[in-house]
Amino acid sequence: MQKLVIEGGVPLEGDIFLHGAKNSALPILAGVLLCDGETVLENCPRLTDVFAACRILTHLGCRCMIQEHTVTVRVCDLRSDTIPEALMQEMRSSIIFLGAVLGRTGACHVSYPGGCELGPRPIDMHLDALRQMGAHFTIHGGQLDCTAPEGLHGAKIHLPFPSVGATENVMLAATLAQGRTVLHNAAREPEICDLASFLRTCGAKISGDGESTIVIDGVEKLRGGTYSILPDRIAGVTYLGAAAITGGTVCLRGISARPLENMLPVLEQAGCRVYPEPDRMHLLAPRRLRAVPLIRTMPHPGFPTDAQAIFMAMLSLADGVSVLEENIFENRYRHVDALVKMGAKIHVSGRIAVVTGVRSLSGASVAATDLRGGAAMVLAGLAAQGRTEIRQISHIDRGYETIETVLRSVGGRVTRVDDDN
Ligand code: EPZ
Repeated sequence: MQKLVIEGGVPLEGDIFLHGAKNSALPILAGVLLCDGETVLENCPRLTDVFAACRILTHLGCRCMIQEHTVTVRVCDLRSDTIPEALMQEMRSSIIFLGAVLGRTGACHVSYPGGCELGPRPIDMHLDALRQMGAHFTIHGGQLDCTAPEGLHGAKIHLPFPSVGATENVMLAATLAQGRTVLHNAAREPEICDLASFLRTCGAKISGDGESTIVIDGVEKLRGGTYSILPDRIAGVTYLGAAAITGGTVCLRGISARPLENMLPVLEQAGCRVYPEPDRMHLLAPRRLRAVPLIRTMPHPGFPTDAQAIFMAMLSLADGVSVLEENIFENRYRHVDALVKMGAKIHVSGRIAVVTGVRSLSGASVAATDLRGGAAMVLAGLAAQGRTEIRQISHIDRGYETIETVLRSVGGRVTRVDDDN
């Protein structure tokens, strides 16, 4: 086990080079299964979740090679349609392989994905949508067995909620299905558009991605190609937030304003000055952040739930009272206790968190509760007086490439050490 040790109080200054998006790389790696031949993914982030996805591909019979930020996958004859429990449990979002394996082989056997730190994480919308495309499911002993004896066919599907994962599973399953699939109330996140763009590169017929209705016309085959994954907007806003909370000035390289468009106005409301350029984003923080009256997490293009913990950490030092409303997950305030231990004044009631800004935070020993909650603790530690230790950083490594190296490159006093506790 390892931990991060942070000596706070240094304003971050300099350039930060952003890695590719975890939430784009994972569904695209699943999509590679649908493609014959070799696929080369560039700007692929070096994250534990990505390595887990490559292990699943290898288990299914693919040949994966990871060189720096390029992942090359050769799909020959898939030797399995089963993902063993150990591999399923390594990564919460491994359910994203369901649509691709089903679409490619006509069957898929996985362990029923458990909940995670954010709550039960049900998959009812995934299963209901795939049933409408001809899939049959049996659940027994924690195993989910899926078959499509007559193959998958197009369908008119309406999602009760614009679920990102369900949208991705339908897109993946529909690409090689017979006929047209029309998906209503689809998720509109930038990562959905990146998946569609990748699949089109490989020969898929998909339109409407980024809007609420996506149309997929099934094709006979897809062929592998080369594709560069979009930058990680959540990692990006995390690093912008690190500059904001420490009163610094950073330039985020490798991202345009577009994927950040639903977060930049909130950074400006908090008193930051942001200057976009075609491939980078400058942020100048004020001496002290201003409170933001209300932040409500919503499906894209609303404010992203993945940025909620990041902004809560920032606003814990703002001048005034901020209110956050978490509308996507039912258990996404697990980072509050750690922030309060560091001196933040936060009151949670159901989906609402009221943050009364304080003048300073104090370093403390805390444990990461989940990916973005852990990142929020890093931001608080960067601004706190004294030393902060963050344990269980495997949560953070799922979504941030060597976060300590990135932060040190802009002056953060962050080291990774073995945690002998
Ligand atoms: C994706 O998770 C992301 N993960 C999450 O990022 C992100 O927070 C989430 O979308 C929302 O944007 C990846 O892309 C790998 P959902 P996903 O299906 O697909 C409920 C991070 O920090 N729901 O849009 O699981 C669900 O319980 C991670 O990078 C059902 O009820 O999210 C939740 O309350 C965390 N039934 C809501 O919908 C279903 O069948 C949104 O879930 C599916 C979802």
